[in-house]
Amino acid sequence: MVDVKIRPIVESDKQSWLRLWEGYLVFYEATLDDKVTETTFSRFLDKNEPVYAAVAETADGELIGMVTWVVHRSTWAIEDYIYLHDLFVSPESRLKGVGRQLIEYVYGVGKEINADRVYWHTQVHNHRAQLLYTKVGWRDGFVVYQWPQSKP
Ligand SMILES: CC(C)(COP(=O)(O)OP(=O)(O)OC[C@H]1O[C@@H](n2cnc3c(N)ncnc32)[C@H](O)[C@@H]1OP(=O)(O)O)[C@@H](O)C(=O)NCCC(=O)NCCS
Repeated sequence: MVDVKIRPIVESDKQSWLRLWEGYLVFYEATLDDKVTETTFSRFLDKNEPVYAAVAETADGELIGMVTWVVHRSTWAIEDYIYLHDLFVSPESRLKGVGRQLIEYVYGVGKEINADRVYWHTQVHNHRAQLLYTKVGWRDGFVVYQWPQSKP
């Protein structure tokens, strides 16, 4: 275990968060228009947006992980669902419990807002992530489809 504090993201985290975000996009071999990243970050700070982020901060102020989530309505519950959107721990800080703490932080938010559930996707071949996920959640068996075809 590494001693980290999981806390909501703030404006001054931007540069450190961008480094984590870049690592996350590299992991997914993805590129995003800077405008998308800028908009996403500004939504974290906007109280009127249902888009949130938290970061894992070490005792010396380094950000080594991040999680983002979206709160949305459901037709299957009166309470909202939380979709855990992005999760990333910097490579040198992995296997020390940070990923688990980031997920559990979102569970804490779920309890606070009385969410019906927290759920997320992962790629079938992301075995490392699934080694964690099977310990903190259960696999619901749904398969994800999307449109349009041209999007990766
Ligand atoms: C997935 C990811 C967030 C996990 O973060 P992490 O900080 O390493 O995770 P943790 O240390 O909290 O948990 C890892 C768990 O998986 C288990 N685990 C991971 N790799 C393992 C391995 N090779 N063998 C055995 N167990 C393993 C650990 O035992 C640990 O379980 P524990 O909490 O009971 O000790 C991190 O690997 C990452 O950022 N990966 C790249 C991006 C990514 O895949 N994001 C998720 C997209 S859905």
